[in-house]
Amino acid sequence: MTAQATYYLTTAIDYVNGPPHMGHAYEKIAADAIARYHRLRGDDVFFLTGTDEHGVKIERSAEAQGLDPQTFTDQTVDCFKATWAKLGISYDRFIRTTDADHKKAVQAIFKHLLDKGDIYKAKYEGFYCKGCEEFKNERDLVEKCCSVHQVPAEWMSEENYVFKLSDYRDRIRLHIEQNPDFIQPDYRAKEVLNLLETFPDVSVSRQSVKWGIPVPGDESQVIYVWIDALSNYLTGIGYPDGDAFKKYWPASVHLIGKDIVKFHAIIWPAMLMALELPLPKQVFGHGWVLTDGQKMGKSTGNATSPDALADEYGADAIRYYLLREIAFGRDGEMTREAFENRVNADLANNLGNALNRTLTILEKNFDGRISPRHEAIEGDLPRKVESVLARVEDRMAVLALDEALMAIWELLDATNKYIDSTAPWALAKAGDKENLGGVLYAVLEALRIASVLASPFIPTLAGKIWEQLGIQTPLADQRWSDLVWGRLEEGTQSQKLGPIYPRIGAELAGAKKKA
Ligand code: MSP
Repeated sequence: MTAQATYYLTTAIDYVNGPPHMGHAYEKIAADAIARYHRLRGDDVFFLTGTDEHGVKIERSAEAQGLDPQTFTDQTVDCFKATWAKLGISYDRFIRTTDADHKKAVQAIFKHLLDKGDIYKAKYEGFYCKGCEEFKNERDLVEKCCSVHQVPAEWMSEENYVFKLSDYRDRIRLHIEQNPDFIQPDYRAKEVLNLLETFPDVSVSRQSVKWGIPVPGDESQVIYVWIDALSNYLTGIGYPDGDAFKKYWPASVHLIGKDIVKFHAIIWPAMLMALELPLPKQVFGHGWVLTDGQKMGKSTGNATSPDALADEYGADAIRYYLLREIAFGRDGEMTREAFENRVNADLANNLGNALNRTLTILEKNFDGRISPRHEAIEGDLPRKVESVLARVEDRMAVLALDEALMAIWELLDATNKYIDSTAPWALAKAGDKENLGGVLYAVLEALRIASVLASPFIPTLAGKIWEQLGIQTPLADQRWSDLVWGRLEEGTQSQKLGPIYPRIGAELAGAKKKA
């Protein structure tokens, strides 16, 4: 027996200065689909997500609400967890940078680097953006303002602990050049290599900040948020000596937004090299969810609440829209109109109708029991399934989530065309039970396979299809090896429970008609 492959997937840990917005949700949904896909493949998956809770921004947000930072972050974290539960995010651990085990391990990491001489003490000065909690190069400033936060950067001078990143520049460059998969999509690697050329030593502590993990042995300073935050990928699986750490490190993929690739592709590898640990296999920088061309986010004030949208349309509609509409890796717009059109066309019509109309005929002609297979009338459907399986596998290997979804919906298109061309209603009318049974079997078999394939993306809707097909083995127990044409068992009692996703606007149209 071959050993089960491990798959360790992480997301960025979110700042908790406000409730989660669509940008946060997009990343967690994408990661969730990837994690679920790997479970379907039979891999031993560990999926880590969580929150980044220290630093001045959070200190200030807490103050604005008259709360101490711990109470404030506890409250916001509850919002994050509730939203992720609503969206079906199946993480294995939710790490908080305020967790006791995390804080202890971060201090140990810091001390280790200090003892080794990778961290030294020096006067550090420069322009500083409080929003980014980062010293800025003058070339990063536009008229002395931070280009991200559009506020004047302040001159700051502190006695700081500094990490000798310059010692690792050459090794990082070599690693990036020799491992083309390390930074994905590959067009982001060039940018990192450019930045790396002049990347300075990094200040890794702050004197002026109180809300943070104290520097071991020097309570006058706290550890810089990025050192604290990046370490979560280790501490979240029990670094240094937990069993999960031994089993899962190095990570398979760190999934993060394009804005923070440089931290993950420069500072993080340098830290890991200093700790003498292997580097993650991949850092994938996804694009941004935009509204009117702007990054959705708290600071730009255009953040749609994923919570409210999920209440209105259901989590799977949001999951499907974001993963299908935005080419994974690129930026993409989110508008209500595009959302409703996409969901109506693909979920209500294409997916829902194929199931609904087939189960209706099955109920009338076979008492709802899965009819016998009749190979002669299956046409190209079994071959289509095979080619779709191969495409999904190929596209998921490079995290082209949108293209994997396109392939699955091609199978649904083919299934609907098959229904139209075989015209089961006519076969029923003519009393041709053998061919009718064969057609219904083929359609439902295609839908069984499509629902398993779609389950990482739209788990709730896939579960509804599964329930209506009447298959007793739970959907969650399905594996890739079950996706073989002909496995659907004749005689299984289906249950027609109505449309799995009613058209958005249908109620409205119905109400208008009545009026
Ligand atoms: N706390 C840091 C990450 C530390 S990881 C060790 C941070 N937090 S964040 O809350 O600002 O962003 C969290 C993640 O959400 C990042 O990967 C970021 O790119 C992503 N997004 C935030 N807004 C986004 C969009 N509008 N669209 C897509 N993702 C974006 O950075």
